[in-house]
Amino acid sequence: MAETRLVSELHQHSLNQEIYEKFDPESQVFQELQASVCLHGILQPLIVRPSGVLLSGHRRLAVAVALGLERVPVEVREDGDDAELIVEFNRYRRKTISEMMREAELLQRVLKERAIANSARAGFARDESPPIESVNVRDAVAKALGMGSRSYHKLREVWNAAKESPNAKEALDKLDRGEMSIDAAHKSVKALSADTCEEDGTPDFLKYFNVWNFMEPDPRFGIPHPGRIPGQIAGNIIYYFTEPGDLVVDPMAGGGSTLDVAEFLGRKALGYDLAPRRPDIIQRDISDGYPEEAKDCQLIFMDPPYWNMIDEKYVEGSSSRLDLEEFKSWLMTLLFDSAACVRVGGFVALVIMNQYFRLPSMFKAGYIDWPFEVYELMLAAGLTPWTRISCPLTTASFSAFDVENCKTGRFMQPILRDVVVMRRM
Ligand SMILES: C[S@@+](CC[C@H](N)C(=O)[O-])C[C@H]1O[C@@H](n2cnc3c(N)ncnc32)[C@H](O)[C@@H]1O
Repeated sequence: MAETRLVSELHQHSLNQEIYEKFDPESQVFQELQASVCLHGILQPLIVRPSGVLLSGHRRLAVAVALGLERVPVEVREDGDDAELIVEFNRYRRKTISEMMREAELLQRVLKERAIANSARAGFARDESPPIESVNVRDAVAKALGMGSRSYHKLREVWNAAKESPNAKEALDKLDRGEMSIDAAHKSVKALSADTCEEDGTPDFLKYFNVWNFMEPDPRFGIPHPGRIPGQIAGNIIYYFTEPGDLVVDPMAGGGSTLDVAEFLGRKALGYDLAPRRPDIIQRDISDGYPEEAKDCQLIFMDPPYWNMIDEKYVEGSSSRLDLEEFKSWLMTLLFDSAACVRVGGFVALVIMNQYFRLPSMFKAGYIDWPFEVYELMLAAGLTPWTRISCPLTTASFSAFDVENCKTGRFMQPILRDVVVMRRM
């Protein structure tokens, strides 16, 4: 039978406050724990040092205080290291990534000091002791946190970058809220921490083959927008088809990723949209053609609505609301205008996906092969086929439920997205 102690004699451990977020009395977890304590009392004794400082049971103590309990069951421990025990007692608790990384920093400190002490005992001078970031220490920390070394390594990079960069902090916040995977956060942070260019002067997001997989939009380019594509797609097109100082035009600029990546690569850029979301995007219905300032640009990069696929997300008057034949003829006019706007030797690049849903009833089954349609329209506009690149949607955007549906319904999810590139000769 555990002994009991007066609640007034027990104290939070300072490390607990340092590592874990405050236990919010309004939270569901607090309310549930409180209801359980009301019903059954505190079933699991709190773990304390003889002095009354808590090693485990901070949440139970908070609830006991809230309920005005006088005494709580405790188990007194005299052995072990405070930091290691606190982390171990919290091992199976649901934690945010930030809480885990604070645990990691603490453990790292303890293990490092221990390694130095051990090596001193073994007769080494302090500056001969194992390096701070020794792989063994890292692996031991990862193990103590119950995660693989590789995931831990990636998280550490995100965690460290978040101390310096607001964009990396945004990735960390998303991780904490469960809105981003470790891999995706790590990738975005790597992209941020890399310099504009690699040592040989090429951009860090460059692709060398004509299938471009980008897991996430690079946060350096563009702001969230319905139908946002990774800015790295425009970035690669700009890199391959323009020179520094050239003018790039995006007639449906959305979240502005083309503008940002063009600036990043030292190109000039103009962006238009029916419903501009940023002050540097000019309000324009591109059905009215290109303005004079866009004339003789080197590249038109366009990512139009994929007809009615996500129509409800765009404003009234968006060309996505046209019926199918009107939309095709709108695209045709746009491509003719684009061919006339771009300078001789310049390029028109258009991002598009095949369409399998929201088809008019006449389709019954089947699909619209938009890249093929666009190819035909571009040819008709007098442009010369140059290349076609595949930029598939990430499979990670589909849930296990979607995959199960494919299995049971015996169909494939369409993830092909293409960029058709043509040149004005
Ligand atoms: C697929 S989104 C572009 C997304 C953008 N590439 C990004 O990554 O954020 C298509 C854009 O076309 C715009 N749009 C639709 N009809 C338009 C029109 N007639 N003139 C100009 N913009 C139009 C919509 O407002 C929307 O922002």
